[in-house]
This record gives sequence, C-alpha cells and structure tokens, in this order.
Amino acid sequence: MKRTNIAIFVSGNGSNCENLIRYFKDSQLVNCALVVSSRADAYALVRAESLNVPCRVVTKPLLAEPDNLMPMLKEFDIDFIVLAGFLPLVPDYLLEAFPRRIINIHPSLLPKYGGKGMWGHHVHEAVKAAGEKETGMTVHYVTPICDSGEIIAQFRTPLLPTDTVEDIAEKENQLEMEHYPKVVEQVVREL
Ligand code: GAR
Repeated sequence: MKRTNIAIFVSGNGSNCENLIRYFKDSQLVNCALVVSSRADAYALVRAESLNVPCRVVTKPLLAEPDNLMPMLKEFDIDFIVLAGFLPLVPDYLLEAFPRRIINIHPSLLPKYGGKGMWGHHVHEAVKAAGEKETGMTVHYVTPICDSGEIIAQFRTPLLPTDTVEDIAEKENQLEMEHYPKVVEQVVREL
C-alpha cells in the first residue's frame, strides 16, 4: 500500500516538526515528504534538513499565488498537510485543493484563546493572565476562519497558581510532543 505523503508547514522553532519526522521515520502509513516554511530563518528548517527531509520556503507574500506552492506539493505527491506552528492564514486555493486534508495544532483548549494574534507565547501569556486552572492543546481541521474548524482532539493539563508563562508553555508543549503525531496517524489511517 502506498504511504500517505504529508507536508509539514512551519514558521518557527519546529519542535513539532522534528517530533513528527522522528515519529514517522519507519512508518508504513505516513511519509514526511516535505517541509514548507513561511520563513527562511525558521529553525524548523535546520531540524528537518538534518533529518534529511526536503524543505522549501514559501514566504507569506508568495503564498498568495498558487503557482508558487502548488507545483511543490505536486512534485512531492503530497496527500495531506499538517500545520505545526505555521503562522500565515491558509489561502483558499489550498483549502479547496485539500478538502478536510489540512489539520492544525493550537496551544490552547479552543475555542478559548484562539483567533487572530493568538499564537505561541501570546496564548500562554493570556492563559496566565486569566488565572486558568488548566490549559491544553487542540488539533482541528483548517477552515477559512482562523482556529475555528471542527475539533479532532483535545488534551488538557492542570496548572498551578505558581506556574510561570514558561512553565505553562512547557506543560503544553509536552502534550504536543506526546499526542500530535498519534492524532495525525489516526486521521491519516481514517482517510
Ligand atoms: C506550537 O505550540 C503550536 O501549537 C503553536 O505554535 C507552536 C509551534 O512550536 N501553533 C499556534 O500557535 C498556531 N496558532 P514549534 O515550532 O516548536 O513546533
């Protein structure tokens, strides 16, 4: 059976990107075929290159034009797209080309702390400021409206009043490391 070729879309550090590549290294189901970054200086590119996964950069302005991205996805025969800390809004042409085949990870228990401007540390700062007793991560399908597609899975972790923003980020990242690859695997299995 042909493995499902996934493209991992990134913009920054790439801890999820690396974790996904390592998790699927010997998979019979999923092949991490390509990493696409919206930034040329994303550390995710260093991680992916060192693990021998082909990388391409498509900056935010270039993303608007299908002719920049679509040929790359065709070249690598991409079946499914996994966003892992990808910051630009996903363009409509991509959503149309990959219906229910683009998923995202968000570092909060959506619908809380989602929407424009809510990414990475901004989310953890807002969680701290609100004095939340728990936080978590959400995996969801991507739709034209930021952070509002159907939820596939959520995982939660308790917080202490003494937890700093860094502690919150660390606890939430641990959930991402443990669960995101397994959720991707499950969704791909059900395609
Ligand atoms: C992750 O925490 C991910 O949930 C978040 O960006 C981080 C990327 O970290 N995504 C969003 O905020 C999307 N709105 P990484 O680059 O180390 O994987």
